[in-house]
Amino acid sequence: MLSWGIAATGGIARTVGQVIAAEPGMRVAAVGSRDPHRARELADELAAPRAYGSYDELVLDPEVDAVYIATPHSHHLPVAELAIAAGRAVLCEKPLAATAADAERMVKLARDAGVFLMEAMWMRFNPLVTRLHGLVRDGSFGTLRSVSASFGFPMAYDPAHRLWDPALGGGALLDLGIYPMGLAQLLLGEPDTMTVTGAVSPSGVDAEAGLLMSWEQGARALLDTSLLSPLANSASVAGTTMRADLEAPFFATRRMVLHGLTGEPEEHVVDASDNGYAGELREVRDALAQGRTESTIMPLDDSLAMMRLIDEARGQVAYPRHA
Ligand SMILES: NC(=O)c1ccc[n+]([C@@H]2O[C@H](COP(=O)([O-])OP(=O)(O)OC[C@H]3O[C@@H](n4cnc5c(N)ncnc54)[C@H](OP(=O)(O)O)[C@@H]3O)[C@@H](O)[C@H]2O)c1
Repeated sequence: MLSWGIAATGGIARTVGQVIAAEPGMRVAAVGSRDPHRARELADELAAPRAYGSYDELVLDPEVDAVYIATPHSHHLPVAELAIAAGRAVLCEKPLAATAADAERMVKLARDAGVFLMEAMWMRFNPLVTRLHGLVRDGSFGTLRSVSASFGFPMAYDPAHRLWDPALGGGALLDLGIYPMGLAQLLLGEPDTMTVTGAVSPSGVDAEAGLLMSWEQGARALLDTSLLSPLANSASVAGTTMRADLEAPFFATRRMVLHGLTGEPEEHVVDASDNGYAGELREVRDALAQGRTESTIMPLDDSLAMMRLIDEARGQVAYPRHA
């Protein structure tokens, strides 16, 4: 039985907590929050025996094997520091941290301590994204030439909300852009060049960003993210012999259509229960059972490379052009 401690009680803490509670061989042993009442409330909901009014106490619970960090990006590192110091395995929400420097510190701490750490990038555990990745690797697409993907929705402007507040790691790129960027990274690796244009919110975070990435072998990615507009949130991946269209939201897609050069399009559909959250949790369970301190599906080096790319993209957007 893998016993989880959940750090935070917000939206995704509740969603993933419910997946843990429903997954055979796992349970939520404890919930930690800045507020003991909120911790108790979520613990009761998830049938977790213990609730703590601080993250410090949560990580010291001797029955907690792994800590799931679901705080705002800015607070991933401080909670991970506590968990790693206590020797707990860590599954940390995406992005791994608010900056590349913070992510590097987190990874160094985990590696030095020999403690498991993984970014909870659930897209990599979506069965259709996994199938697409396999087809690209086995040459079914010929030479991959183009990735286009978007993720954006209009978010009411509220400078106190974590998506708009620079102190909490606000901005479209860290929260939403990481998915289209992550799809390009998964299929093509790190780009050789990246040009980004966008707009900055009155609070000083990137409200939207368009990215053009290119690879020396000729591939390109055209990516879009926004806190201002309802984007298509779908993705298309094209090689010289095949194209895949991933239905929205592409990072959790349930339907992918493959278009070869001849013949009928091929439809791939997955069940709603087959989601990336269960997959990422099982990866932690399997890694711990096998004595691995990193995931092979979401390696820490990829998380670090992504953080460096996002730093660079945010830097390119951060000129005075206002949303
Ligand atoms: N994988 C996914 O599908 C997915 C989806 C949404 C979000 N996320 C990621 O998960 C993280 C949390 O997102 P969310 O949407 O769940 O956020 P949220 O609803 O705002 O919840 C964040 C929680 O963090 C805790 N927290 C600690 N310090 C805080 C601070 N200074 N200000 C505000 N909250 C603080 C709070 O819980 P307590 O006060 O109880 O401690 C709060 O409820 C983000 O990094 C985000 O990128 C992932």
